[in-house]
Amino acid sequence: MHPTLVFSAALLASLLSAVRAQTLVNGQIFTNGLAIVDAPAPNSPMHAGSVTQVAIDISGDGKLDQSASIPGSDKSTRFDSLEIYLVSYQTKLNLTVSSGPGLLTQEQGSTVKHWDYNVSTCIPAGSYNLTFYEASHINDQPCFSITAYPVTVMNDHPTDACSNGTNPLQSFPQLSSPPPHSPWLDGTSIATQPLPTATGSNSANAVVATGAPIALAFLGLLSLLSL
Ligand SMILES: *[C@@H]1O[C@H](CO)[C@@H](O)[C@H](O)[C@H]1NC(C)=O
Ligand SMILES: *[C@@H]1O[C@H](CO)[C@@H](O)[C@H](O)[C@H]1NC(C)=O
Ligand SMILES: *[C@@H]1O[C@H](CO)[C@@H](O)[C@H](O)[C@H]1NC(C)=O
Ligand SMILES: *[C@@H]1O[C@H](CO)[C@@H](O)[C@H](O)[C@H]1NC(C)=O
Repeated sequence: MHPTLVFSAALLASLLSAVRAQTLVNGQIFTNGLAIVDAPAPNSPMHAGSVTQVAIDISGDGKLDQSASIPGSDKSTRFDSLEIYLVSYQTKLNLTVSSGPGLLTQEQGSTVKHWDYNVSTCIPAGSYNLTFYEASHINDQPCFSITAYPVTVMNDHPTDACSNGTNPLQSFPQLSSPPPHSPWLDGTSIATQPLPTATGSNSANAVVATGAPIALAFLGLLSLLSL
């Protein structure tokens, strides 16, 4: 099986199902954008009154030049912005973890950006999503990918309602235009998490079986893939 064909079929499956999947590989969360999240792990507890460190590899595990992570870069594959929110439809909160260019511009020279998030005691205990909003270009194609995965806030002594870092909670799902798959994974040799929809397994073979004929129509997009 030619790897680009598999990738095209994955693209097709993604367009059809409109799922914003992420893929867990060796403990790293490969978003559908350029970012690879090293920490916290999915389902991690976050303790109110303590710091949770978010660590994000912005180098595609060593494949992307440092300068491509600085907003305003002239590279054809580059980050434009990366923001993080702690969001819950259960507690109806959307809290800023990191916004603005600070995250991407700090720690220059480091392939991993670390962000210390002070989990305020104002945050009610419950289920949340750590949600990453990435605007980027991949081979000069603009992309906007949203990656959300669950975390749990633990808080035995909640204080008054949060007044700082709160944002309007927008309804789900939000519009995005992500690449079909992490550009750092070729979709052939990686065990992926099942898709949470009726399309079922996203194993490359299953996708190719249904998607290959139409996937040929997407060959024009292959320039996207030749990173
Ligand atoms: C987390 O996001 C998923 C969709 O990705 C959504 O179905 C779920 O309700 C969200 N969880 C919370 C607690 O908001
Ligand atoms: C976190 O917040 C607490 C209470 O607001 C403060 O005392 C502490 O210094 C903060 N820690 C960091 C790392 O910002
Ligand atoms: C308000 O929230 C922002 C974003 O979480 C944080 O950077 C800032 O330190 C907070 N300010 C205060 C006064 O707690
Ligand atoms: C959370 O707030 C930020 C800043 O306003 C916004 O960009 C993002 O779309 C919001 N997310 C949700 C799920 O409301």
